[in-house]
This record gives sequence, structure tokens and C-alpha cells, in this order.
Amino acid sequence: MSTALQIHASGIKLPVSLIPCTTKQISRASKRVGRIRCSATTPNKKYTIAVLPGDGIGTEVTPVAVEALRLAGSLEGIDFEFKEMLVGGAAYEATGVPFPEETLKASLESDAVYLGAVGITKKMPSSDHLPKHLRPEVGLMRIRRALGVYANLRPITVFPRLLEASSLKRSVTEEVDFMIIRELAGGLYYGKPRGFGINEKGEETGFCTEIYSSSEVDRVARIAFDMAMERRGKVCSVDKATVLESSRLWRKRVTIMSEEYPEVDLSHMLVDTSGMELIRYPKQFDVLLTSNVFGDILSDVAAMITGGIGMLPSACIGGPGPQLFEPVHGSAPDIEGEDVANPLAAVLTAVMVLRYGLKEEAVAKRIENAIFDTLNEGFRTRDIPTPGAKIVGCKKMGEEILKSLYVRVPSHQLN
Ligand code: IPM
Ligand code: MN
Repeated sequence: MSTALQIHASGIKLPVSLIPCTTKQISRASKRVGRIRCSATTPNKKYTIAVLPGDGIGTEVTPVAVEALRLAGSLEGIDFEFKEMLVGGAAYEATGVPFPEETLKASLESDAVYLGAVGITKKMPSSDHLPKHLRPEVGLMRIRRALGVYANLRPITVFPRLLEASSLKRSVTEEVDFMIIRELAGGLYYGKPRGFGINEKGEETGFCTEIYSSSEVDRVARIAFDMAMERRGKVCSVDKATVLESSRLWRKRVTIMSEEYPEVDLSHMLVDTSGMELIRYPKQFDVLLTSNVFGDILSDVAAMITGGIGMLPSACIGGPGPQLFEPVHGSAPDIEGEDVANPLAAVLTAVMVLRYGLKEEAVAKRIENAIFDTLNEGFRTRDIPTPGAKIVGCKKMGEEILKSLYVRVPSHQLN
């Protein structure tokens, strides 16, 4: 299982040969003069990426991201080795557990981990019959924990070409660009005690605990403040401090930390209000910092500003080793096998691998520009229709992104 292999599932074809030889040849083929290193003269940089396509549409969108990385990397003198591993329901079916040891080992040995999606598949539309520790989602929770990642970055960025794809009005969504930072390693998802019991009336009960320590709040808050310094200098911390003790501590620690960042403007917002404000006036946000469970919910809500969950990438950072990258598929409505999934969240996640994981900004920009270009050319998947658009499937969208990468993006966009 742990052998490095190519990912063939999507059957994506490259428009032209993938192995550039001389700058001249590439310039001729692509009709542009980009910055292209020649593998014959300069040794390529190498990265190993553990690729965990997972379940359902994860197996359809992941190959698109992998091919985009491979091609963009080759254009910038970077070689990727992709190690495909099992996780989620696919791992359970093959090995009996959703997070096999081999997957952990390969992940820890890599430079970054890419995870497609876990959860529902055509074959297993529900995992309710499985004991909790065998459910597909456990694979995701375990890998997050194992890598020690604690901050989940979910950018809410509206593409001008997709303004009509949102269920919200153009005047509300235009120019929206903010970052949700969701705490990922603690809170309600992991707090103890939890379980099932019987109350004094003899009724069944189910319970979880939301607990945060000061250091857990501090480390994710620091990421939020640092990010705000690089952006528009605003942090909005979302909690429910009027009711929850965990939120009271959260608010106190975030406020203390803000003293270290006098340039950053900190505000606090209650979670219910923030749900409303995300829909009313999302432009007010720059960095939105929140807990694990609130971030889970609010990021799905906010995804609709951009057109939908198929547009939302994420990076899980902060761990000591390789970082984890996952498109946010939440309750992915598209089922695999029909070639209708939107691969853009997956490809935008590849951009995050490069930007936040490997720090290869030039390659990140190339892929980002290819996405802009593909949207400019009018290609859309069915979840993000806009007037006059060409509605295509996942594979075709992937092919168009590769074409943009290699042929269409003019040199002036490469900087
Ligand atoms: C997400 C997902 C996961 C989460 C599930 C699948 C465990 O909804 O990444 O948003 O709640 O973290
Ligand atoms: Mn979710």
C-alpha cells in the first residue's frame, strides 16, 4: 500500500507533454515567456506529498489537484512524489480501520499531506451502522490529531467571475475576502468527559464537553493575529461568552493577546450574531477567529458567499511536522461516479499546500492564475452556474485548468 504511485482515477489528460526540455520549446508551445527552469541544467527541488483521496468525490477531485501540482511544479523546476494512501471509508473497507498505521507513517514522512474527503460514498451512503471508532470521519479526526495541526485556515474569497453563482446579491458578496481561522485540535470535538449515560429519570443521555485551556486558545489566536498583520489588520473573535464558560476563557485570552498586537483591531462577536453578519455584510471581516465547532458551522455558511462548498479549500497548520490540506466538503452533496463534482476547492487546496506548507509562492500563483483563467474562459461545474457559462464535469474542468496552466495564461500574469 505504501508504494508511491501515480493517481489515475480521473483519467485527466495533459494537453501537451509534461516534461519540458528546453525553454525554447516551452515558449513555442505555450506562446508565452514565463519563468521556466530547465531540468537538464538545474537540479529540480523535490517534495513528497502523502495523498489521501479518501471517499466519494474525494477520489474524483484529488487527481485534478495532483495533476495541477505536478504540472505547475514542473514549470517551476519542482518535482513532486505523490504517495497515495487510504483513509476514511475506503481504508475501512480495505483494512478494517479508517486510519491505518501505514497512512500515518507515510503522512509523517512526507512534506505535506493532502486529504480529499471522507464520508459518504455511493456504496456506503451512511455510516450510522458502524461503531463510532470505525466511521470514516474518524480517519479525518485522527490524522488532524496525529499531525498536531491546530489552526484550520478557510479562506472566503469571492472570484469576480462567480458573483452570479452565489445565492446572495452581488452588492453583498463583491470584493469579499476574509480568512476563517477555526481552532482544530480541541473544544467540543475532543473534550472529555463524553459519552452516553442514563439520567436520574432513567432516560438515555448523550453528552460532550467543550473545554479549552489557555494555551490552546493562545496558540490559535497568535496565528490569527499574525495573519491579520499580513492582511487588513482586523481580527473578529467569535464566541458565545454570554452563556459558555469555555467562551469566557476564550474571550479573555484573545483579549490579553491583543495587547501584543497594538496594530491589530480586535472585536468580539457572539456566534449567533456572526451567522447573521456573514450574510448581511460579509465585507466587514478580515480574520474571523473561532472555536472548533463554531468554525465548522460558520465556514459552511460562509462558503455560500463564494458560490458554495465546492469553492472552499483549507489548510490545517501549526503542527510540528507536515501540515494537512483538505478541501472543505462538509456534507458534500455530489456523489462520486457521475463526474459532476467541482474540483476547484481541491485545486485551491493545492494552492494552499504551496503557499502555507511548502512556501512555494511562484507555483501557487501559477495555479491560482490558471483558475482565474479557466473561469474567464467561462467553464463552470453545475454547482456554480453563471449566465452564459459552459457547464462541464469534473474531468473537463480539470483539463481546462491544466490547459490554462500550460498554454493559456499569458506571461504578464506570472509574477
Ligand atoms: C469539516 C468536516 C469535518 C469536521 C467532519 C467530516 C468530521 O465537516 O472539515 O468541516 O467537522 O471537522
Ligand atoms: Mn464541516
